[in-house]
This record gives sequence, structure tokens and C-alpha cells, in this order.
Amino acid sequence: MKVTRLDAPLGARITDVDFGETPDEALAADIRAIIHQHQVAIFPGQTFNAKQQLAFTQALGPIRKRKLPDDYIVPASSSETPGIAYVSNIRDENGEPTGVIPDGEMWFHHDTCYTDAPDKFTMLCAIAVPNNGGNTMWCNMYQAWETMPEDLKQTIRGKKALSVYDYATIAKPNLSNLDNIEKAWQPCVVTHPQTGREALFVNRLMTCQVEGLSIEDSATILDPVFDHAEQRQFVYEHEWTVGDFIIWDNLAVTHARTHFELGDDRRLRRSKVSGDKLVA
Ligand SMILES: [Fe+2]
Repeated sequence: MKVTRLDAPLGARITDVDFGETPDEALAADIRAIIHQHQVAIFPGQTFNAKQQLAFTQALGPIRKRKLPDDYIVPASSSETPGIAYVSNIRDENGEPTGVIPDGEMWFHHDTCYTDAPDKFTMLCAIAVPNNGGNTMWCNMYQAWETMPEDLKQTIRGKKALSVYDYATIAKPNLSNLDNIEKAWQPCVVTHPQTGREALFVNRLMTCQVEGLSIEDSATILDPVFDHAEQRQFVYEHEWTVGDFIIWDNLAVTHARTHFELGDDRRLRRSKVSGDKLVA
């Protein structure tokens, strides 16, 4: 493998490796180390299929197979291989999306931070990419925390915050009634279990309340934190090419998606490695 650090706040591009063959434990350990060091690992030109991606994911750690809410419509193509989902705006003959979270812009977030054990790694393989937009952005949350002004740090240090997600929308959910949506309290700042570094662990899409404060007062505290974290100097934006396979460290970065049009086909194959309960 050849590892080239990106000229960006995070990320490395890794060539001279083919994941058609499932990595052995030594290679899997190298790949984990690259992800932990660079937060985002980009492997261009991969041609593997869903089964091979799943075998790869298993080599890195336990596969995330989460049960979705009963009323959530899972596209048929996502249920063929458990552990694999497609993120896609492509419609079938009935006009139904063939993938999850199909359309449009998505704000910065940590995957499944609204559960007790957020995902460790998320990975996406590009099968179809739009002509315009639909880029993925990652934000380096180590740097976001390290550079945060002390008075802003004081507002959240040592506190927990509530993260929520409503599968019915890709926007912020209706916060007036949180009874029936998934939610979890997480430390605002986590110590990464592998790197030992502190990372900011709140995000604009899902984090809505700081412990001890109302939702309204929490917004007053959290909005400047989000504004600080999402500055361009901490962000790498990736324009997808078919065959790009990208893995990221979900405890060290947030990710977001830029706008793209319906009809401008986008299809990414997603799998995840399960995580553990977080440590403040
Ligand atoms: Fe996500």
C-alpha cells in the first residue's frame, strides 16, 4: 500500500491495494491504523461487489446490523445483503427510492450518535456519482476541539448532550416532541479509545440539548460551537469518482453532504463497523 497524506486538514489517499481479496489480520491492522491516523482513508479504483465489501468490513471489526424502525421502508436492494445499505437517489419503476437517505443536502453529523454505541467506522463505495454536487465533506473534530476558544470550551466541557434522529426527515427533527424518535446522551467531548485524543462530539444535525438546559437555551450554547467546528480550515470536501472506496473514523470526524439534483444519479454502497459506548 502507498499512503499519501492529502493537502487538507484530514485524509489520506491509499493506492496499490485491491480489496477483491479480503485483507488478512496484518493488513486489516494496517488499515485501521491508517484510518486512526488520518481520520479518512480514500482507496480509489476499487471494483469489489457487495459480498466482498461485507467481507472487508468484517475484517476490520464487527459489522453493524442495526434494526431500523418498523415503519421505515427499506429499499429492496438494501435487504439483499444484510449489513449493506445503498445510499441513492435513483428511483425504481414505481418511483420509489432504491436507497436510504436519497436526496439533497445533509448537515454535519456523526453516524448513529443517537444510539448508545455509535458506529466506529463508516465506509462508502461509489457506484454512480452525480455530475454536480453530492460531495461528502468531513470535519476534523480533534482540530475543532483543540482550537476552540476557551470561553466556548467552558460552555460544554464535562457535559453531556442529547442527540436525536428522525428517520422521516434528513433535516433537524421537530424538537417539541422527542418521545418517539431515537435519542441518546453522549459526552460533548470524547476521548478516542484508540488514539487517546480528545474530539468534539456534537453536531448540527443531531445534537439538540445540553444537560441541565432547555432546548432553547441549548441552541444558544451549541450554535457557536457548530459554527466554530464547521469552519473551512477543518474540512475536506471530496468530489466522488466511481470506484472510490472511503472509510472514516466516526468518533474523530463529522460528515455532511452537499446539494445535488434529483435525476443526477448518485449511488453509494455503505457498510459500517460497530462501535462501543463512548468515554468522556
Ligand atoms: Fe451519515
